[in-house]
Amino acid sequence: MLAQYIAKHKTPFEAYLLELIQNESIPDQLKESMIYSLSVGGKRLRPILLFAVLETLGLDPKKGYQTASALEMIHTYSLIHDDLPAMDDDELRRGKPTNHIVFGEATAILAGDSLLTHAFEVMSRDQELTPHQRLTLIGMLAQAAGPSGMVAGQMLDMAAENTTITLEQLKEIHANKTGRLLEFSVVAGAIIAEASGEVVELLRQFSKHIGLAFQIKDDILDVEGDCELIGKKVGSDLENGKSTYVSLTSLEMAKQMLEDEIKQALEILDRLSNDTSLLAAIANYIKERQA
Ligand code: IPE
Ligand code: IPE
Ligand code: MG
Ligand code: MG
Ligand code: MG
Repeated sequence: MLAQYIAKHKTPFEAYLLELIQNESIPDQLKESMIYSLSVGGKRLRPILLFAVLETLGLDPKKGYQTASALEMIHTYSLIHDDLPAMDDDELRRGKPTNHIVFGEATAILAGDSLLTHAFEVMSRDQELTPHQRLTLIGMLAQAAGPSGMVAGQMLDMAAENTTITLEQLKEIHANKTGRLLEFSVVAGAIIAEASGEVVELLRQFSKHIGLAFQIKDDILDVEGDCELIGKKVGSDLENGKSTYVSLTSLEMAKQMLEDEIKQALEILDRLSNDTSLLAAIANYIKERQA
């Protein structure tokens, strides 16, 4: 069911996303590097999640295309910068050489800057939404991605290299560096669908569990994943002395914690009166994914 859903939405959404850049007047080298990182290879999990929430709440996913595009631009910027030599120093992403390997560090930094900024421009002119919804979502995404959200997580992730931190501290890092954008994916869908406060809160709790689960699985795949499938290097975390669920506990315990997070996420879905099978399928996919 999920595979079918993804097949239906991924291609039209990707075409829409790339057009948002293609139609802009941007210096050639910069445009090329933005499109390079945005195009094929990403799972588009955040957009798919947003669409699935809209669908669950009875709306046409197209209503979320611009918000999802902004989200995917910000996510992609975070990956370009995450791979830079000054950060994780990785050379493979989405099955291709990383942005700075192809275009050089200066252009990679600027491509990231551009995707981050352009995301908010796209949201500001989204005619599918009311001005109030636009303002709410812009503020929410800025908070989720910014210095007390994803960037905070990235900062603390770097600071925790080659140190011993507690599992509680690691959970906080993961909740920020990865959880916050996944939380936005879900909550944005609820805001666009004008869901009740109660539904928004239940979905937020759901998103926190899948957000943490997603990064635990990312840590696991960094140890036992297949480079061909994940499209990035295996063993990068160990090489960088990262604190991960695997390094702080064990592969077995990390898998158990992943299982627990998904179980809790599914229990929350049971409390919603809507048909949540699509969201449940995404939660299970996060646990099982090999890419
Ligand atoms: C990778 O995210 C970075 C993390 C937050 C763990 P994804 O695994 O969603 O990367 P893409 O978008 O599919 O390339
Ligand atoms: C990065 O986490 C999360 C963000 C980019 C915000 P990781 O450093 O673990 O992501 P990967 O493994 O390089 O995709
Ligand atoms: Mg990193
Ligand atoms: Mg990394
Ligand atoms: Mg990782």
